[in-house]
Amino acid sequence: MSKRNHDLQGRRDTAFARGLGNALPVFVERARNAELWDVEGRRYIDFAGGIAVLNTGHVHPKVQSAVAAQLERFSHTCLMITPYESAVELAEKLNRLAPGPTPKKTIFVTTGAEAVENSIKIARAHTGRSGVIAFGGGFHGRTFMAMALTGKVAPYKAGFGPFPAEVYHAPFPIAYHGVSVQDSLDALEHLFKYDIEPARVAAIIVEPVMGEGGFYIAPPEFLQALRRLCDQHGIVLVIDEIQTGFARTGRMFAIEHSGVEPDLMTMAKSLAGGFPLAAVVGKAHIMDAPGPGGLGGTYAGSPIACAAALAVLDVIAEERLCERAEQIGRTMVDTLLGAAKSLPAIGEVRALGAMVAMELVKNSDPHQPDADLAKALTKRAAEKGLVLLSCGLYGNVIRFLVPLTASDEIVREGLAIVIEALRELVTR
Ligand SMILES: Cc1ncc(COP(=O)(O)O)c(C=O)c1O
Repeated sequence: MSKRNHDLQGRRDTAFARGLGNALPVFVERARNAELWDVEGRRYIDFAGGIAVLNTGHVHPKVQSAVAAQLERFSHTCLMITPYESAVELAEKLNRLAPGPTPKKTIFVTTGAEAVENSIKIARAHTGRSGVIAFGGGFHGRTFMAMALTGKVAPYKAGFGPFPAEVYHAPFPIAYHGVSVQDSLDALEHLFKYDIEPARVAAIIVEPVMGEGGFYIAPPEFLQALRRLCDQHGIVLVIDEIQTGFARTGRMFAIEHSGVEPDLMTMAKSLAGGFPLAAVVGKAHIMDAPGPGGLGGTYAGSPIACAAALAVLDVIAEERLCERAEQIGRTMVDTLLGAAKSLPAIGEVRALGAMVAMELVKNSDPHQPDADLAKALTKRAAEKGLVLLSCGLYGNVIRFLVPLTASDEIVREGLAIVIEALRELVTR
């Protein structure tokens, strides 16, 4: 008998601890580019991209053949034991791609959280200092330091403390919520007065566009001010590009919009088109601070993932995915702003390239987030054949992470579902 979503959901719920989130009761049978099919044969457009992992789409043919070719040779030796050329080539490419003139070096790890952990280890080893500053609403992962840096309690931190010491949060500038760049910079100055002197701060970590926290775009002048502040006090500036990287925002990395050269960057997600790979890439003299053996991991820089990542970088260049991100972003913003004219629930539409979001509010008031509507919308969209993700400190933001390889038809079809579903929900 053919498998049913409902039955598999029952087995899933029994087999997995409830702490493991689950957005939709849709069990995937296969996926290609921006579409997937469930075990019952239903087709879905994928506007989630595995949470920003699939900028090059599901099973891009080039990624598929690179991985198949690597599997013919070997699948694992451990980069720390007997290395291989593909990892070196990938590190060389990332060192060249990382913005700014300072020579760069790379380490590979396996997940985004691990990249974040290691960026702080490197910053501490380099500075000999302990303090770390992150931003309210930011998300950096689920391991202990990454969780401490994350600026959202429920569900990420609730019940899991105590956290590593010496982590401080400042407000992220969000114009829509009345927090200006100056407010954020003033708060950092207050932090230096109230809590920790800048000479004890090892790192400031920031997402150039807040991902999980609601797709708020850090204004370039804010990132430039952070750069100046870090230079002034000898603090390592860590730019978390895990969600924003690899052409999503119309540039290879979102920080490029600001002209800032990061000290360290964390990368993961779309780096390897669906294979687990993450990296810290940064200024060589900072990256070299930890001693031999202090950094690494058994699966860090897996040869399968490196083969995939090299193919991903080729695809981004050959298919001009940065330009494509700009086009997709424009289409989405135009369509959503058009719909917003008759749908006051859409409080704001914002985008950097194809990192697009719409914030849902009650009574056109930014201070009345409508998380229930966002939840209902993702559910209704799925019923209509679209995988959609919410995010935000209050859960009221819909984020769009369609593969950059998606056709115009697919993008438009998905958007039409979003608007139709939203209209149905607000005119109930
Ligand atoms: C900005 C950012 N940093 C870190 C992480 C953690 O990555 P991972 O889930 O691979 O550990 C995420 C994941 O969503 C992220 O968006």
